[in-house]
Amino acid sequence: MIPTLDDLGDVAGKRVLVRTDFNVPMDDGVITDDFRIRAALPTIQWLTSRGATVITASHLGRPKGRPDARYSMDPVRARLAELAPGVELLENLRFDPGEEGNDPAFAASLIDGIDAYVDDAFGACHRAHASIVGPPRVLPSAMGLLLQKEVEVLLGLREHPKRPFVAVLGGSKISDKLGVVESLLNVVDALVIGGAMCFTFLAAQGKPIGASLWEPDQVDTCARLLATSAARGKPIHLPEDIVGLDAGGNFATYGTRLPDGAKGFDIGPGSAAAFSDIVMDARTVFWNGPMGMFEDDRFAAGTRTVAQAMADTKAFTVVGGGDSAAALAQFRLDDEIDHVSTGGGASLELLELGDLPGLAALRGAPNA
Ligand code: 3PG
Repeated sequence: MIPTLDDLGDVAGKRVLVRTDFNVPMDDGVITDDFRIRAALPTIQWLTSRGATVITASHLGRPKGRPDARYSMDPVRARLAELAPGVELLENLRFDPGEEGNDPAFAASLIDGIDAYVDDAFGACHRAHASIVGPPRVLPSAMGLLLQKEVEVLLGLREHPKRPFVAVLGGSKISDKLGVVESLLNVVDALVIGGAMCFTFLAAQGKPIGASLWEPDQVDTCARLLATSAARGKPIHLPEDIVGLDAGGNFATYGTRLPDGAKGFDIGPGSAAAFSDIVMDARTVFWNGPMGMFEDDRFAAGTRTVAQAMADTKAFTVVGGGDSAAALAQFRLDDEIDHVSTGGGASLELLELGDLPGLAALRGAPNA
């Protein structure tokens, strides 16, 4: 059993460490989306309204185990002070190598003078880092309200989805996501693949992809996944057209055979329409990763069309991952989605494996 906030008993007068995921997108020291900070407020308010003193702690970016001004928590602390006055926020946990190294001495330093621990950092629960797995070994612990909701929705998707269940995957981190593709084929009825990920799949089909982003060492894996999907009758839908820049840097539309020097940056209008139909026909859709480089207006149409279909479909819709959530916010469609997850890698891993290191740690807490 994973303990919940009620399992902490009376928190009045107690000092509670809340691990949050305040890893927010920043542009030159300015927070561009405070969704993850706002998402932690219900737990913080639950605790403070019952008389607890809340100390929050988070990582920000990947500063490699030493202080780095670019990853200072100051902008986050300032925003938190506006949203939850009086709540403390420790410095970036990843300024200490003990965080990612899961060093027990670092975990001990975090809980010095602390009476209870709450994990509300869903986005980081797939990391067996000191602040995630250390405190529940010794302190009464609980999952926060955000973590509880994320687990309920994503495990529900994994265990009893309404079918057809379609996963739409995009983004560029293909090697991060290929393991997931394989196990998602056990869970979903069909996969839709866009974004920079699609070029390695197109290459695996023997198509020329010009100078598009791809991962040559993953071509064999993609070919194997395409064969597995065909054998199991679970289609992997790939784009049928691509837009990008030709060798001279001019905007261009192609089929799925790109000439030398051409770079694909978005799915084309035909693929966007086809993907939209798949989303409209599904009864459950999980979306992770944009269909193209939507930050550039010229390459936003594919992501916008899929986002609009996510908003319009009658299916139960879940979106995971910072980039897809940011795209929804940019198109002002975030309110139309049933659940926007604060986790990217964490939501994929929970769908894939049905458990996360952070959840396992809470199950082992002394009060569990
Ligand atoms: C995320 O942004 O997905 C989480 O904050 C985890 O960050 P990480 O991938 O750097 O561990």
